Formats: sequence, structure tokens, C-alpha cells
Amino acid sequence: MAAFPELAILRTELSGDALAHLERLAVSWRLLSDLSFSDLLLLAPLAHEDGHRFVVLAQVRPTTGQTLYVHDLVGRIVDEVERPALARSWRHAEVFEGDANILGGKERVRLESIPVRYRGREIAVLAREAPTTSGRRPGELERYYLEVYDRLVSMVAHGSFPFAREEVEIEGAPRVGDGVIVLDADGGMRYASPNAVSSLHRIGIHAYTSGVRLSEIGFDEAAVDTAVRGRLPVLEEVERDEASVLVRVIPLLDAWKPAGALVLLRDVTDLRRRDRMLMSKDATIREIHHRVKNNLQTIASLLRLQGRRVDSREARTALAESERRIRSIAIVHETLSREARESVDFGQIIKQLVRLVEESVSTGDGGLRFEVVGDAGELPGELATPLAVVLNELMQNAVDHAFPHGEDDDAVHGNVEVRLQRRPGVVDVDVVDDGVGLAEGYTLASGQGLGMSIVQALVTGELGGELDVSPGDNGRGTRFHVRIPFATAAATKVVEPS
Ligand SMILES: Nc1ncnc2c1ncn2[C@@H]1O[C@H](COP(=O)(O)OP(=O)(O)OP(=O)(O)O)[C@@H](O)[C@H]1O
Ligand SMILES: [Mg+2]
Repeated sequence: MAAFPELAILRTELSGDALAHLERLAVSWRLLSDLSFSDLLLLAPLAHEDGHRFVVLAQVRPTTGQTLYVHDLVGRIVDEVERPALARSWRHAEVFEGDANILGGKERVRLESIPVRYRGREIAVLAREAPTTSGRRPGELERYYLEVYDRLVSMVAHGSFPFAREEVEIEGAPRVGDGVIVLDADGGMRYASPNAVSSLHRIGIHAYTSGVRLSEIGFDEAAVDTAVRGRLPVLEEVERDEASVLVRVIPLLDAWKPAGALVLLRDVTDLRRRDRMLMSKDATIREIHHRVKNNLQTIASLLRLQGRRVDSREARTALAESERRIRSIAIVHETLSREARESVDFGQIIKQLVRLVEESVSTGDGGLRFEVVGDAGELPGELATPLAVVLNELMQNAVDHAFPHGEDDDAVHGNVEVRLQRRPGVVDVDVVDDGVGLAEGYTLASGQGLGMSIVQALVTGELGGELDVSPGDNGRGTRFHVRIPFATAAATKVVEPS
């Protein structure tokens, strides 16, 4: 089944602004359906048929009552014999009421057909289909609902409803069933439904009496003023006494002149409380990352103090290395503590890791150049932490082993490049230096210190990735390559090119 605009373009003469007007109607007409407790159909005459046959463009069922049509009618063709009122409304541009058989059945239904006008021209017909009345006298609520419905329907026939500027259905906006207040042309309250009265209670207003203005019972009327004066609906949230109520004001117009308003109220206190709880959960997670970072930095500082007190050169080096490893983890937590999400921009982390390694180069005047090429994008925290440790080890190895210090010459010259590449579901990282290269016969399996053991354990173990080593660019130096697959929700959405 084609969607509304396509169906209209294929089967009717509708296009452009007139079609947009009907689309807006189909977004806001739930209000009409709920106020009239009825199914509504939007129909337009088939192209080149002189208004003898119509196609159903859209359908809405009431949330305040039972539907007559459990099946979908969109796309169905309705003719003059089945629905004479439709053709009459279309031809005479007037509202017609009558009885008819239910579409596709024998039951009798009550019909009302309303011409939909746009810029002085009939463009479609709105059909209200309801069960024939039971003879029961309608209660107060029903009477007010139907009265407001009638006024909105005249606006439809007049061209002033739907409003020119309300194309989108607002998530969570109040509906008729949430609570209704009807205001007269002077702003006085004529009626408030039981749910509306409850919502007023939530924000501390207990003095509802009909006839008085909203402002007289302590309700800010600004939204009503704006809606009525601007002749456009207004949505506003009122917060008071820990309670939140969403207020939607729909101006009622009489031939474009303001003639009262419909106020819909929805108590969203519980909804907002949940929002706040979620927000504070985020804040708590950030705070935890912040504390973990602080604790790690304290541990790192303790190791540094300890290192100053030992005489053995070997022990000092070991403590210094441990300090650096801990600081590389702290960097990730610090970055996570600044993010609202559970993922981090790895580019930021790599910059700080480079600084950490540069600080450990004892040989003065910066003959060692670090460069970061490419981008790994956003990575989840549980991946960023081990990856940061891995990169720290690989960069430190380049500093420690690729450029041996000469006896007297204490300046080290060389380049280390970190290359990052992100593809759907994979991150590739290269650490390339142009130093002396690996010793003859070195393999990843043999010749391991603690550094490479950590790298291997994290890459192939924890991250389920691959690690290989080869000579660097132009056969000089060394290139360590790490490939890590990851299937986060974001990554799995991307389809791998085959
Ligand atoms: N970029 C490099 N260029 C040359 N040799 C390297 C490079 N990276 C690693 N190596 C060699 O691999 C060996 C193992 O490295 P590994 O990090 O495991 O130990 P380490 O650096 O000696 O000690 P630590 O446990 O403190 O890191 C190094 O000793 C070195 O010989
Ligand atoms: Mg090492």
C-alpha cells in the first residue's frame, strides 16, 4: 500500500501546498477523532472523474471510543452510491449528515461529511463515521467534546484548521483523554474534564470553578495569550511543586477571529522524574570515572616517590615503567569522565599518550618526532582502555629500542608515526618507526619482555584482535600492526562492503 502523499499523487489531482495542507490535517486530526469519539476518513476525488468516486487517503481511530473499522481502509475506493453525502459535500462545499451502511458491511452507521477547504477551494472531504446513536443522553464531558469538535470542523470547512505551522506530531504532547479545558472568547473557563482537574491539582491548583479565568486560579495564562493572539497552537511545560504538566493550547477561531481556546493538559511528573534519574545516572558514571582517574594518579605518584628512594637502576626503571602504564589507563578514565556517553574520542587520548611517552625521553632537545595520522573515531570505553595501554607500550618500545643512544652523543634523532584507521567493525593501528629495526631473528613468539607480553595478552586475548610485526617504511625501522574487530551497536549497523 502506497503511503499518503504517493497515493494522492498517483490517484488524485492533489499536489503542492494543497497536499501539504492535507498532510498537516492527517497529523493533527486525532484531536477531532478523539473529541467526536468517531472514526475519521480523509477522502479525495479520483483524478478526472468529476467527483463520482473517492479514494481513502488516511484514516484515524478514536482513542476515546470504539472503532468501526478494525481493518485498514487506506487506498479503498468509495463511490457516490455507497456514500452519497460525500459527493454532495464535495459538489456543494457544505457539511452533510446522514445514515449509510458501514463500508464493506450491512450495519448502519451515522455519517457526517465535511468539505476540506484550502485557500478558498475544496480539496478533499473529511468523513466522520460513528455508530447510530443509542438514544442515551450524552453527559457533560461528551457534550463539551462534541461542541469543540463542531467548532474545529467548521474551521476545517473554513480553511483555518489544520494550522499553517504545525506539521509535526509532538512526542508526548497531551491528547484529549489526558485532560481538556474549554475557554470562552474572554478567557473564562467553561469546562474542565476530570483529568484536567486532577492535573491542576498536581500543580497545586484546587480552586477550579467554571466561569473564572485561568489566571484567577493561579495558572499562568501566557501560553493561552500567545496561542490566541498568534492564532497558532502553543505547547508549554508548567513546573510547580515538583510536578510537571504539559499544556497545549489550541485557539478556536470563528472565521479567523479568535473565539476561545481548547487547553489540553497532561501530567508528566513521573515521566520527568524518570528523565532526571537517567540524567543523574550519567552524572554518576562520569563521577566514578573521575575518581578512578584520581586514584590511578595517586598510585602513579606513589610509585614515582618509591622510585626516588631505590638505589638499584633496574628497580628504578621498573617502577618508572609501571608508573607510565598506570598513567596511560588514567588518561582513558579522565577522558571518559568528561564525556556524557560511554564512548570516547580516541584522537584525544592518543594525543595525551604521545605526551606521556615524550616526557619519558630523557635525551633533551626533542630530536624524536611523534606524529599521529588518521583517526579511530569514537570508541567504547572498554576498548579504549586496553588499546591505550597497547599503544603506550609500542610507542615506548620505539623510544627505548629503535634509536640507541650513542656513547657521547646524547641527542636521539628519529620519527615515530602512529597511524589510525577506522572501518566498519574494525580499527587498525600501526606504530611505525625509522630506527634500527628489530634484532636478527626476532619473532613475536620469542624475545619478549614484559611490554610485548602485555601487548599480546591485550590484543589477542582481551580484544580478540591480531598483532603482527614487519620492517617499517622502505624497509627501515619497525612497524607493529594491531587490528581490532569490534561489534558495538553503532558498528554493526554499518554494512561491511563485500
Ligand atoms: N620499535 C622497536 N625497535 C627495535 N626493537 C624493538 C622495538 N620494539 C621492541 N623491540 C625489541 O623487542 C624486545 C621486547 O620488547 P618488550 O617491550 O617486550 O620488552 P622491553 O621493552 O625490553 O622491556 P619492558 O618490559 O620494559 O617493555 C625489546 O627488548 C627490543 O629488543
Ligand atoms: Mg618495552
